[in-house]
Amino acid sequence: MPGKPERTDHPIFAYLIGLGVIMMILVVLAGVLFHFTLSPHAPEIITPVKAKLMPVEHSAILEESRKHEEFEVHRHFHNIIEFPKLSENKRPVCFICHSDYPHSKSKKVRSLLNMHTQYFACETCHIKEGKDAKVVYKWYNPYDENPEGPFFGTSYDVETGNLVAVEDILSKISPYFKKAGGLSSAIQMQDAPLAKDYMKVRDTLTPEQRDGVKNKFHVNIKPKGHECNICHSKKGIFDYNKLGFSKKRTADLEQLNVKGLITKYENFYLPNLFK
Ligand code: HEC
Ligand code: HEC
Ligand code: HEC
Repeated sequence: MPGKPERTDHPIFAYLIGLGVIMMILVVLAGVLFHFTLSPHAPEIITPVKAKLMPVEHSAILEESRKHEEFEVHRHFHNIIEFPKLSENKRPVCFICHSDYPHSKSKKVRSLLNMHTQYFACETCHIKEGKDAKVVYKWYNPYDENPEGPFFGTSYDVETGNLVAVEDILSKISPYFKKAGGLSSAIQMQDAPLAKDYMKVRDTLTPEQRDGVKNKFHVNIKPKGHECNICHSKKGIFDYNKLGFSKKRTADLEQLNVKGLITKYENFYLPNLFK
């Protein structure tokens, strides 16, 4: 039976809407396909095939740390600020194996500790003081031998009461060994011979060998970092005035009620932190 002749005079927007709907369907379809085949958050159905066709150089440590980083970024998504990534020779060795958020064991303080890694080099809390070398603290900037500040978090804006915004967001407080010849940095960089050598061969090392190398990087590192009160108290290790902190900021940091801050959370238990 001959039907009515097909209508061909649709208004142009009808075609546009049709096109829009088709595009949306395609995008959703592509997303679903990606999710089931290659996405690291799903079954990864064809990942083995891809690995076969396009072999990439593997580093278990790097992969682990990237995964960890991604996880942490997701967990901290609400307070991540875009931070310039330093080139490898300006990055401390610790980041070969640890992420920017290395603390995970103690749930109650890990975010606070990880927050501090934005202001300090790892060694600021983890350095072992030697018998013959006293440690002093100074601002360190990867591109400037003697950064002058103003540094982040050192003073308040009188009008708003917020911390003053600063241009220098790279400088961190770092430890230096005080020796006869002057100050020498206590942080190891990724361009140090040991680090370079390690990066060359790390993929070929067995887990045991890796463990051995790990210990070499850890020689000056104590497993537990400084406790909160070592800095948040009147007799702390920092000379806040010399580091450029304002009087008001210093008073706040010294008097910070760390115990109150942490015990605010119920049933807080920290094995060795507050003996
Ligand atoms: C060659 C890889 C590697 C480098 C470089 C490295 N670490 Fe580690 N680190 C590890 C591994 C592996 C562990 C054990 C697993 C863990 O606890 O995360 C570890 C554990 C630690 C621990 C926990 C205590 C312990 O001994 O288990 C601290 C603290 C630490 N590292 C600090 C640092 C600091 C600070 C640096 C930079 C000076 C650094 N690490 C450089 C691999 C490395
Ligand atoms: C504000 C001081 C501070 C800074 C800065 C700091 N740490 Fe720690 N770190 C600690 C303390 C305190 C502990 C012990 C935590 C506990 O008792 O659970 C610790 C523990 C660790 C551990 C043991 C595992 C864990 O999950 O807690 C690792 C690994 C570690 N630090 C690595 C690093 C690295 C790498 C850096 C630099 C990116 C760094 N830390 C910077 C204070 C610090
Ligand atoms: C190595 C010294 C040091 C250690 C150890 C340390 N802090 Fe801090 N903390 C500081 C300094 C310095 C600042 C301010 C940094 C900045 O804003 O530039 C700070 C900032 C803070 C702030 C933010 C305060 C504000 O007004 O912005 C909190 C909260 C805090 N620390 C809690 C802790 C807790 C809890 C611990 C122990 C788990 C701890 N800190 C360990 C030195 C330290």
